[in-house]
Amino acid sequence: MTQNKELTIGLFGFGVVGEGIYKVLQQTPTLKAKIKKICIKHPEKLRDAPAELFTTNRNDILFDSTINVIVELIDDADAAFEIVSSALKQKIAVVSANKKMIAKHLAELLTLQQENNVSFLYEAAVGGSIPIIRNLEEYYDNDLLNSFSGIVNGSTNYILTKINEEGLDYNKALLQAQELGFAESNPALDVEGIDAVNKLTIVLKHAYGVTVNAETITHKGITFLHSDDAKYAAEKGYNIKLVANAKRISDDKIVAFVLPSFVDSTSQLFNIRNEYNGVLIGSKLADEQFLYGKGAGRYPTSSAVLSDIAALRYDYRYEYKKTFTGLTYNLTKDYLIRVFVSFNQKDNIDTSSFVEIEETYKSSKRNYIVGIIKISDLENANWFNNKDVSTIAFSTEVENQLKIKKLEHELVEE
Ligand SMILES: NC(=O)c1ccc[n+]([C@@H]2O[C@H](COP(=O)([O-])OP(=O)(O)OC[C@H]3O[C@@H](n4cnc5c(N)ncnc54)[C@H](OP(=O)(O)O)[C@@H]3O)[C@@H](O)[C@H]2O)c1
Repeated sequence: MTQNKELTIGLFGFGVVGEGIYKVLQQTPTLKAKIKKICIKHPEKLRDAPAELFTTNRNDILFDSTINVIVELIDDADAAFEIVSSALKQKIAVVSANKKMIAKHLAELLTLQQENNVSFLYEAAVGGSIPIIRNLEEYYDNDLLNSFSGIVNGSTNYILTKINEEGLDYNKALLQAQELGFAESNPALDVEGIDAVNKLTIVLKHAYGVTVNAETITHKGITFLHSDDAKYAAEKGYNIKLVANAKRISDDKIVAFVLPSFVDSTSQLFNIRNEYNGVLIGSKLADEQFLYGKGAGRYPTSSAVLSDIAALRYDYRYEYKKTFTGLTYNLTKDYLIRVFVSFNQKDNIDTSSFVEIEETYKSSKRNYIVGIIKISDLENANWFNNKDVSTIAFSTEVENQLKIKKLEHELVEE
């Protein structure tokens, strides 16, 4: 494709994002990108677009030789993989926002892109409108990227903001997030932290070149949080955020986890409210950098999709540079983190796997402990998946990181 070539698009999905990109393209004639056909699932739904554009037969798009770009914006990850792989095999460039599908099939999708020498772009899959993937791909190529930590799920951040600031009940806040188009069709993906894990999997590929099975990343969402946790946070001046973390801890090891986290007011993540996302990039030379923007919703997500479509005019493709550097990183869970664990008064949790317990609190209603534990021991603790136990990490306090470093040092010396 040359820069002046017109893009003829086959669009899959006409929901929150699909309809958004349809409208945005109508208002962006300079792009010379035109939607020829739209494949949807339910033909009976009323659509705000000419009826002749719609089909329920995916082959009307996949086998139309005039279509040179496929934009995949459906909420079914399995069907999306069939559509995207079929398109790539036919050397048709693809833009997608489907983080679940991409995280699950990253290795196969990379092979398909290479074998067929074709672009597959998915900026909207991580951080909505924020250009994270292209940044990790291009900008941090020669820099040593030490860490990535951020709020990458708009609906959970929206829910946490509404609970903390307006005292809204969890279910009402979730309903609002769904009504505003921030939540996944299956909101469990958001609130259980799986969507953030899927995004972190994609980040790990572009930041460090590692292919990780999303299911192996230690994670917890926001469903187990207890109202008393918010009280503790308020007393200490923290906000609770769902934070996805990746960190290079040695020349060949990386840690990655997603946990609700106490964020203090010195962190840029502290003030990220509602559906906004924000990521902190720790770089060896540039220190800390912060990217911020809307992480969900029709037009913010469409903006990233539009940017990918525009990039196809000059045949942009991810080179997966970090995958081919020769450096190999492995994911390790042998890493200490500081956590707050709260549980009902009647329960007693086994604390034997904590390296250190700093604080213990008991009351007639809720108990908590604050301590330092290895990620592997946390994940294997018999209480970690107990719905009456909440686990919140202290992820951003510099003094805690220093304390953990000191402890790690002492453990090595023992
Ligand atoms: N919403 C956001 O803020 C956001 C942000 C970032 C990424 N994303 C991602 O963007 C994608 C779309 O999300 P959305 O919020 O726009 O979803 P949505 O509002 O639920 O819309 C889904 C669309 O997919 C269509 N569809 C489902 N299965 C299909 C199939 N097998 N073949 C053809 N069409 C099919 C549906 O058709 P009908 O209309 O006929 O039911 C509907 O138009 C998802 O991968 C999501 O994770 C969303």
